[in-house]
Formats: sequence, C-alpha cells, structure tokens
Amino acid sequence: MADDDILVPADYAASLFDLSGRVAVVTGAGSGLGAAISIGYAQLGVTVVLADINRGGLDATLATIRDQGGEAVAVELDVTKREQCFDLAARLQADHGRVDILVNSAGSAFRSPAEDFPEDKFNFILDLNLKGTYFCCQAFGNVMLAQGKGSVINLASIGSFNAYPWASAYLASKGGVLQVTKALALEWRERGVRVNGIGPTLMESPLTKAAASRTSITADFIKARMLRPRLGLPRELIGTAVFLASDASELVTGHIVMCDDGYLTA
Ligand SMILES: NC(=O)c1ccc[n+]([C@@H]2O[C@H](COP(=O)([O-])OP(=O)(O)OC[C@H]3O[C@@H](n4cnc5c(N)ncnc54)[C@H](O)[C@@H]3O)[C@@H](O)[C@H]2O)c1
Repeated sequence: MADDDILVPADYAASLFDLSGRVAVVTGAGSGLGAAISIGYAQLGVTVVLADINRGGLDATLATIRDQGGEAVAVELDVTKREQCFDLAARLQADHGRVDILVNSAGSAFRSPAEDFPEDKFNFILDLNLKGTYFCCQAFGNVMLAQGKGSVINLASIGSFNAYPWASAYLASKGGVLQVTKALALEWRERGVRVNGIGPTLMESPLTKAAASRTSITADFIKARMLRPRLGLPRELIGTAVFLASDASELVTGHIVMCDDGYLTA
C-alpha cells in the first residue's frame, strides 16, 4: 500500500512536532519572551540564532542554552536597520544553508496619553515593533521562499485587537503586526512559507516591569479585565511557539494564536 493510501502512516503523530536539526532566528532573544522561546527551541534540538541589540542579554541566553546542552549562536542585530537584517540573512544562508523558523520578539512599549504622545517615542515604537518585524520578515522570508519552506512567528498582543489607555503607539504597531502577518501569509502560502503570530496576555517580563514603572494606568486597566489575576510566564508560550514552528501547524497560516488566558473573550 502506498503511503498516500494510509489514513495516518506509522509514527506520523510523533513526527509532527519534531524540530531537531532546524535553524531558527529569534529576535529579542536577550530577554523575556524571546529568551524563553529560544531556550525552548534549543531543548528540542533546534540550532538557535539569538539576535538582539543587548549584548549582556544575548550572553545570558546563550549561556543558559549551552549549560543545558543546546546549540546556539549570538549575534548583535538592530532590527530597525534593514541592511543589518539582510546581511545576517546572507550570513546564515552561507553558514547554515537555511533558515527554517523566524520569531520576531524584539519590541518595546512607551506609555503616554495620546494627546501628548511625543513624536520621537511614536516613531521609536513604530520603527521597532512594526518596521523591525517587517524587515526581518523580508530578510529571512527571502531565504525561506528560496528553500520553499519556513515558518514566521510574530509577537502580536491583545493590543492587536483591543485597546487600553496610554498605549496608542504600541496598539498601532501591534495592529500593524496583525495585518503584516495576514498580508505575508497570503503572499507566501503558495511558496511554502507560513506566517503566524502569538498574542500573549500580560506577561512576567522586563518589558512589563519597565513599562509599568512610569505609570500603572495601562497595567491596571488590563489587569481589571483579566479573567484571573495572574500574569503569564514566558515559558508558557513555548508550546505555541513549537506548534507554529512545526509541521503540526501545516494548515495554519495568517493567524494570531492567542495565549491570552481568555482575555479577548470578555
Ligand atoms: N511582556 C508582555 O506582557 C507582552 C505581551 C504581549 C506582547 N509582547 C510582545 O512580545 C515581545 C517581547 O516582549 P518582552 O516582554 O520579551 O520584552 P523584553 O523587553 O523583555 O525583550 C525585548 C528584547 O528586544 C530587544 N530589542 C529592543 N530593541 C531592539 C532592536 N532594535 N533590535 C533587536 N533587538 C531589540 C531588547 O534588547 C530586549 O532584549 C514584544 O514585541 C512585545 O511587544 C509582550
């Protein structure tokens, strides 16, 4: 009997989540969610290219992965510099021959009432969260398109869908990430590249602490609407990041998988 005639071939289910030997680029890997996803991938045999502007953070994630017996390299990358993204993509193609997974986790937030939002901060957030994500999609997406397979995972947010106060630039950037995810998924599906996002709830991470240090208006608003009073842990995104990177999600593209503990249901 040919494989195609069998409803589910032997060992099929176990193979779905197998990421061993794949190459992933994770931006923002020096902290928070990007660091956790990088460590999770490395535990499954992925070679992880850790990319960040923060040398200290990169070194810390790299040390953890190596201590745990995983494989990774750390590279300084400013995702807002388009040519740096393309240079790194060319280098990885030369060094590893492929890029299978891209996780765009580099990002930041700035809190201000909309009527006074400083222009430089607005530009900073849009440049980093939206254009930085887009540039990396272009640079590493080109490698994936050439090899006819790949999975892009963008860090979206509950703010891709719902509003909260003092975060207008962040909401604009994450709404943009949602639409970029859909746009690229549409253009790239036929050529084997899937583009999805993860939409976390409020997470325990340095970003949340930094953003909350100036004011808690935004966090208080979100916390009041959470279904239970508990922030997400970075490691709680690893399962979804593995699913979206793997063949288990072969028919999933153009979606934000919400890891929001039910936030958007209310
Ligand atoms: N923390 C949350 O509650 C939360 C919720 C939803 C979505 N997100 C999103 O998840 C992503 C990661 O958030 P986090 O909580 O891990 O933040 P974080 O601040 O802990 O980590 C962000 C990382 O991005 C890096 N970075 C900043 N500018 C960069 C640049 N120009 N080039 C490369 N790297 C750069 C930083 O050095 C840092 O290591 C962000 O896009 C954020 O918007 C976070």
